[in-house]
Amino acid sequence: MKIFFGGGLNQRIIVSLDFPAAASAADLVRKLGPAASFYKVGLQLLTAAGPSFVRELVDAGKRVFLDLKLFEIPSSVAAAVAATGELGVSLVTVHASAGSAVLEAAVASAAHFPGLKVLALTVITSMDDEALREVGVVSTVPEQVLRLALLAQAAGCHGVVASPLEARLLRNTLPQEMLIVTPGIQPLEFAKGDHARFTTAAQVIEAGATHVVVGRPISRALNPAISFAALCAELDG
Ligand code: C5P
Repeated sequence: MKIFFGGGLNQRIIVSLDFPAAASAADLVRKLGPAASFYKVGLQLLTAAGPSFVRELVDAGKRVFLDLKLFEIPSSVAAAVAATGELGVSLVTVHASAGSAVLEAAVASAAHFPGLKVLALTVITSMDDEALREVGVVSTVPEQVLRLALLAQAAGCHGVVASPLEARLLRNTLPQEMLIVTPGIQPLEFAKGDHARFTTAAQVIEAGATHVVVGRPISRALNPAISFAALCAELDG
């Protein structure tokens, strides 16, 4: 089953601009051309290039996922979310583990910007059960992801970020209108024969993710435009 959230398949692929400077990020945007319309800017590029690069992307007609991973007191989070709204950003992330007061403050702030949605980050993909225990969480990763996703839903968040492995569980639990954004995508050629892990873009979308975040499989490809087109074709198939 394919669920569409406006636009074509290419709108469901968010290209991650993990670069140390604006010039290299802009080079990838130029190489991908009009086919790619949705980009993620993370902490590295934002810190290196500043918000003017985000504004340039927006002015060029691109949608921007600003992956701020906010974890602060509610008033600071609300102010930062408002700043992303002023920039014309489409998606911004807040750590769900910051709690419902923070999530609600983010959602209330985003409500002033019709184009802005708040994504709650569940558990960062580098954490396993042991890493959760280290910070006092006795649940397993899937249990914690589910708990935080439900907290995000109750707080009015527009979507969640989770690993490919939790996409199906979340789609079966969350309302259809909630976005499920999934990083950690494997290129098709590396994933052949590894059907158990469900980490190709097509598998993750089939499992219920609304968007996939893809970085190196495109940015490090010999020809990023061809890799992007192949990814669109993979989803179309
Ligand atoms: O691995 P790739 O280059 O496609 O990563 C793109 C983005 O997805 C990174 O910026 C990172 O934020 C996120 N990511 C993640 N967990 C992974 C791999 C990537 O959250 N296992």
